[in-house]
This record gives sequence, structure tokens and C-alpha cells, in this order.
Amino acid sequence: MAQRKPIVAGNWKMNGSLELVSEICSEAKKYNDLNVDVIIFPPALLLSEVVKNGVATGTQTISEFDSGAYTGEIHAQLAHELGAKFTLVGHSERRSIFKESDLQVADKFAKAQQFGLTPILCVGETEAEREAGETEQVVAKQINAVINKLGIAALNNSVIAYEPVWAIGTGKTASPEQAQAVHKFIRDMLKGYDEQVANALRILYGGSVNEKNSELLFAQADIDGGLIGGASLKKDAFISICNSAI
Ligand code: G3P
Repeated sequence: MAQRKPIVAGNWKMNGSLELVSEICSEAKKYNDLNVDVIIFPPALLLSEVVKNGVATGTQTISEFDSGAYTGEIHAQLAHELGAKFTLVGHSERRSIFKESDLQVADKFAKAQQFGLTPILCVGETEAEREAGETEQVVAKQINAVINKLGIAALNNSVIAYEPVWAIGTGKTASPEQAQAVHKFIRDMLKGYDEQVANALRILYGGSVNEKNSELLFAQADIDGGLIGGASLKKDAFISICNSAI
């Protein structure tokens, strides 16, 4: 991990409150001058509050459209104007619950970059896909949808998060070896396109990361930090995960 600056990102999903923003941000902002990028992905309604509290932030998804008659959507340009620096795209909950396709995710990735947001592209296989031996194929297809649309250079300004669906919110973390194997596969695959892009790209692991397993996960050669769900809502756990990335 040493060659790339680690990231610890908290994906709050549809949780959190004004109170939680101030509780977590008062600690999280202490990392602003340290060798780890701490990013909070709150529900979009709390974005400005995180900005005000001095912590890097982003949206959990954005619209692939420009402004117009798209009720309920989050506009990338407006998010950027409000101080967002990042956005997640293609989180597995967006893919499974909201039926986002690989192509739609690639469009969102493009829209994020167009308006100055750094996309964190989430990829990962389901349990059935892992059992069928299809992990690499699934992950490659999700990443190639972006490369086919935008070219490998687009990954310069992005982050990938590998989140096996079977590990999300289940308490079943991938072992450090299992996670490292997929991260290495992703990096090697990208080296086939462009070695420099592949070596510089930060690849995060997500899926039941907590204060007990983060250190070993983050110690793996191709794991550059984590995308944390449940544990990012608990101040002490989240801060201890941030410490384990330094
Ligand atoms: O995006 C983070 C996520 O989906 C993992 O959630 O609760 O398993 O850490 P959790």
C-alpha cells in the first residue's frame, strides 16, 4: 500500500443525521494533514454539512443526465458546486435494487468526471458468481464497460472499490488473501492497458470491514484502503479503521 496514498471512505448509505456529521467529522478532520484521505459519503441531503465540518465528501451516486426533468436525481455539477469532490458509481445496491446496468454506470462515471468529481467505481461479484468461479469475469466486465466507453486514461482520475456482494453488510469479510487476489487481478488486468495508470490507481476493499480486520486487509500489496459501510457510522470503529490505514 505504501506507494499509493490510502483512502478510508465511509459510505453511510441512507443513514446518519446532523448529529452524526458533527460527531464523526470532529474526529475525521484530524486526518486532513496525515497520509490518508478520509472521505465521508453521507446521504446527499447532508453533503453541505460535511463540507462545513471540514471533511472531504461525495455523493453515493449521481445522475448520468444533465440538468432537466429528472425528478429526484442528483446533478453532478451541483454536487461539485456544493463542495463534493467524489462520487460512488455502481455500488452493488444501486446495481441490484435500482437495476443500474454496466453501461449506465459507465455513463455516470463519465458525467462525474465531466463536472470535476472523482468517481469511485464499485465492482464485485455475488456469492453465486464466486461459487461458479466467475469472480474475475464479472469484475473485468464491470471495469471494461468504463474503459470501452472512455478509454484507459479516464482511470487516471478515479478510484476502484472492490466490494464482493456476499461480504456487504453480512459480517462475512473476504479474507485478506481472497481480497488481495482480486485486487491483484484488477491491477494486472489494467497493466495490460497501461502500466502507469494501473500502478497509480487506488483500489479499495469494501465488505464488512471493521476495526478488527482492517489492518490486515490494508497491509495487502494491492489494497489501498477501504470503503466502509456499517462501521463508518460508529465513531470509534471508524477512527480506528482510519488509524490502521496510516
Ligand atoms: O460501500 C460500503 C459497503 O457496501 C460495505 O458495507 O456494511 O459491509 O461495511 P459494510
